[in-house]
Amino acid sequence: MSKKVALVTGGMGGLGTAICKALAQSGHTVVANCLPGFPPKDEWLARTKAEGFDFRVAEGDVSDFDSCASMVKRIESEIGPVDVLVNNAGITRDGMFRKMDKSQWDAVLTINLDSVFNVTRQVLEGMAERGWGRVINISSVNGIKGQFGQANYSAAKAGILGFSKAIAQEVAKKGVTVNAIAPGYIATDMVMAIKQEVRDSITATIPAGRMGTPEEIGGLCAYLASDIAGYMTGATLNINGGLHMY
Ligand code: CAA
Ligand code: NAP
Repeated sequence: MSKKVALVTGGMGGLGTAICKALAQSGHTVVANCLPGFPPKDEWLARTKAEGFDFRVAEGDVSDFDSCASMVKRIESEIGPVDVLVNNAGITRDGMFRKMDKSQWDAVLTINLDSVFNVTRQVLEGMAERGWGRVINISSVNGIKGQFGQANYSAAKAGILGFSKAIAQEVAKKGVTVNAIAPGYIATDMVMAIKQEVRDSITATIPAGRMGTPEEIGGLCAYLASDIAGYMTGATLNINGGLHMY
């Protein structure tokens, strides 16, 4: 049987790299998306190759529908149809709402939420036609509980949850599952950008007493991408060290 093809958006970032590795370790052909012209692409490929991985790369701007359409066409012709999609690319532009400008709102909504439409729209029909598919959307604990300083990000990540539940219903009979993962604070560049004293005060509120690791999120993605996860759809999986329980 040929290997399933998994596309991970923002695949060279902190969580993206761990998700790519976990999917490769569970037998997928993994395509890591990055922005066109992403300078450290070659270094990332060389580093992961030295670790024993053989990733493919697909350049594309997830905030741009046409860029996503041509990216997915290239993947289909050069590698094969996408069986597993992990919508992982995202950014923060934190600030208190009263000081937030329109560009901070637009950037976060476009890259974190529009992107999920832009990429999923290219692959869902094919998954349904082939009778098998997995869409995994990376939301956030802050999309569930809301976060001071993140009106834009909390809105985008909450939007992903509604999107996932709606689409899950549309393709449930077609062998395609759509789920969301809501990670808590995971030690990547995104979190390290928070001021140290603010970060320390957040860590102090996590019952597990620490931030999560990217590998912990990668492992959950590998499970959701597997055959055995076929009955789980429309779910939001919390993985946050106990920061928010509901
Ligand atoms: N609840 C209540 N009050 C808070 C607060 C909170 N969580 N955080 C800050 N405040 C208060 C401060 O105590 C301060 O009060 P005073 O003016 O009375 O002293 C006031 O708000 C201003 O705080 P700052 O000095 O921090 O203001 P700032 O303008 O320098 O920074 C901020 C504002 C950018 C929002 C900063 O507080 C911050 O970075 N907060 C963290 C936001 C956050 O958690 N981002 C997550 C990024 S990682 C990620 O998003 C991944 C994921 O999904 C988990
Ligand atoms: P990260 O290391 O900054 O990775 C984000 C990735 O997205 C980067 O590779 C980035 O590329 C890419 N990206 C940004 N804009 C893009 C675009 N327009 N097109 C294609 N790729 C783009 O952050 P991370 O922590 O791994 O975050 C990954 C995802 O997890 C995000 O959706 C984030 O919101 C979510 N999340 C993170 C945490 C956490 O605590 N870390 C918690 C909950 C949810 P560049 O480097 O080139 O910009």
